[in-house]
Amino acid sequence: MRPIDLRSDTVTLPTPEMREAIFRAEVGDDVMGEDPTVNKLEEMAAERLGKEAALLTVSGTMSNLIAVLCHCQRGDEFIVGTEAHILLYEAGGSAGLGGVHHRAVANAPDGTMSLADIEEAIRVPNIHFPRTRLICLENTHNRCGGEALTPEYTASVFDLARRYAIPLHLDGARIFNAAVALGVDVKELTTGADSVGFCLSKGLSAPVGSLLCGSGDFIERARRLRKMVGGGMRQAGIIAAAGIVALETMVDRLADDHANARLLAEGIQELPGIAVDPGRVQTNIVLVEATDSLATDLQARLAAAGVKASTMGRRTLRFVTHYGIERADVEEAIAIIRQVLS
Ligand SMILES: Cc1ncc(COP(=O)(O)O)c(C=O)c1O
Repeated sequence: MRPIDLRSDTVTLPTPEMREAIFRAEVGDDVMGEDPTVNKLEEMAAERLGKEAALLTVSGTMSNLIAVLCHCQRGDEFIVGTEAHILLYEAGGSAGLGGVHHRAVANAPDGTMSLADIEEAIRVPNIHFPRTRLICLENTHNRCGGEALTPEYTASVFDLARRYAIPLHLDGARIFNAAVALGVDVKELTTGADSVGFCLSKGLSAPVGSLLCGSGDFIERARRLRKMVGGGMRQAGIIAAAGIVALETMVDRLADDHANARLLAEGIQELPGIAVDPGRVQTNIVLVEATDSLATDLQARLAAAGVKASTMGRRTLRFVTHYGIERADVEEAIAIIRQVLS
């Protein structure tokens, strides 16, 4: 029996249309700016997000690293949420490779940081302090259960950042999930951000890649940094071709993933030993907390029964819906989880 793999939306496989586009892609040396397919994808991405320019990178992690390196110098500080991917899951790259320090501000369960806390964390000029050079937001917020930050909230942080003349980077790995869930144009979530990264290889199902978007000047500097970190790829049109199909065909269907995630949460909410709140499932991520010993080793027991989940801390499981997971798979997963917990 094929396992129902809900570990992550990164397990998605390319669609048949993507494979066809990869096969037919017109390519060139992208480090020399000569890959027409990469150039087309970068133009499309910039246009979609309302920015002047974009840069294809290897991964969301690379886009975030380049953004931090572009905005900050060694010894500078950036403000980031305590639950942020940049802080917790990117191998400390900004400090390790860039010498850039971070200041963590508490994330509320909905992924926001309070404006007062952000403002408090902005350093005043003093020779004892590093200089605050960047504020980072994440939308949707992975560790906060895929919650979508609203245009109103993001605009309020952009305004605060602007008041202090501090650039703002948006880790929008799943920004299209946020736009679809909120029913807004993605530009409403990116306007005001100085840089935005989004991933092709999560819910959009392309095999590789992330786009870092920003002003023409920012992307020119980012392009040099991409080369520095070894991310200059040659005939990358092979990758970009799938990315173009992802942007053209895979955004609207994210609504199906969101409906499936909600169905999963509703289907398991009454089960013993776990706590899950379907009301908080806005996008494609469902966090399930183990509340008693029944649920210990739940991940392993579920995997043995045919449902794969990932963990987020000792007591929390994460289920992510995505392309390739149909409503029937979710119904089957609910039945398996019910059986394992009863
Ligand atoms: C919010 C967020 N940002 C960045 C990344 C990094 O993306 P990648 O795995 O492509 O490096 C992820 C990956 O899961 C993520 O969830």
